[in-house]
Amino acid sequence: MANQLREVIYLAPEGPVIKTITDEYHPDNSQALIKVHYSGINPADIKHLTLGLHSSVAGYDLSGEIIVAGTSSNFKVGDKVFGANPAGPHRPLYRGAHQDFVIADGPNFYKVPLGRMSMAEAAALPIVTQTAADGLFNVLGLSFPSAGFGGIEKQTLLIWGATSAVGVSAVQLAKAAGHGPILVTASAKHHTTLKGLGADACFDYHDEDVVEQVRKELQNNGKRPVYAFDTVGARVFGPDEAREKSSPELVTACIQASGDDQAPEGKL
Ligand SMILES: NC(=O)c1ccc[n+]([C@@H]2O[C@H](COP(=O)([O-])OP(=O)(O)OC[C@H]3O[C@@H](n4cnc5c(N)ncnc54)[C@H](OP(=O)(O)O)[C@@H]3O)[C@@H](O)[C@H]2O)c1
Repeated sequence: MANQLREVIYLAPEGPVIKTITDEYHPDNSQALIKVHYSGINPADIKHLTLGLHSSVAGYDLSGEIIVAGTSSNFKVGDKVFGANPAGPHRPLYRGAHQDFVIADGPNFYKVPLGRMSMAEAAALPIVTQTAADGLFNVLGLSFPSAGFGGIEKQTLLIWGATSAVGVSAVQLAKAAGHGPILVTASAKHHTTLKGLGADACFDYHDEDVVEQVRKELQNNGKRPVYAFDTVGARVFGPDEAREKSSPELVTACIQASGDDQAPEGKL
């Protein structure tokens, strides 16, 4: 059980280590105790060290089975769930994903739609999907009618870096929400796969003239507003002279109006 001697992956200030703990985990009324089946590997598991977020059990994404449910929790014993606990300083040990038992602490846990995805697949989805959904539906304000989100309906969308984990999620969410045409950038070898997931037009971001190619495609679309989602934030921290090749600069160049009547106008 959750109070037995057990090993966890602990994020020490120097990096991840295996640590033995005996801490007892007791969910309060709003929480639930999960027996973890799978924890998902996410770059943030270690990257968050650079933000000073350490000295806690590592990991965010997980799937598992509820073994104790608080009286006002959304779950009952036996439910198969997936999700992620929030990040933050002084994170209690019971929130980290890379251990056998975790307390679901907050609203970001959901029942696994078994039959449509496996427990292993579910453990890889929470943070990337939430990040993509946040970008599309909160930041850009796009609608997802069948999910009950209001917002701006059916828009032309540019997704830069669509092969990233966040990008692949964004393409599928945007398609499911009815937006389009969806233009994406990715290495050429991924274009067929991305078209199968919902992309309408694919461009290789390695091409010197990728901005011109995208602008031309957008101009063919007429004057409809264009929404853009940079899902990679590439080359942002390089030297100043490389900044113009950073993904935010390239995305902005693709969608900003330039006095040319035919130029697209967009929102980032
Ligand atoms: N993973 C998460 O849960 C998460 C959560 C919040 C925020 N983020 C942030 O979101 C960003 C993406 O993270 P991720 O984990 O989704 O990335 P990832 O899966 O590691 O992305 C890798 C892919 O990015 C593409 N890429 C690399 N450089 C590119 C460029 N200059 N232009 C376009 N595409 C490029 C490559 O695609 P090709 O193979 O097609 O070349 C590569 O396969 C990062 O800034 C990360 O910090 C991630």
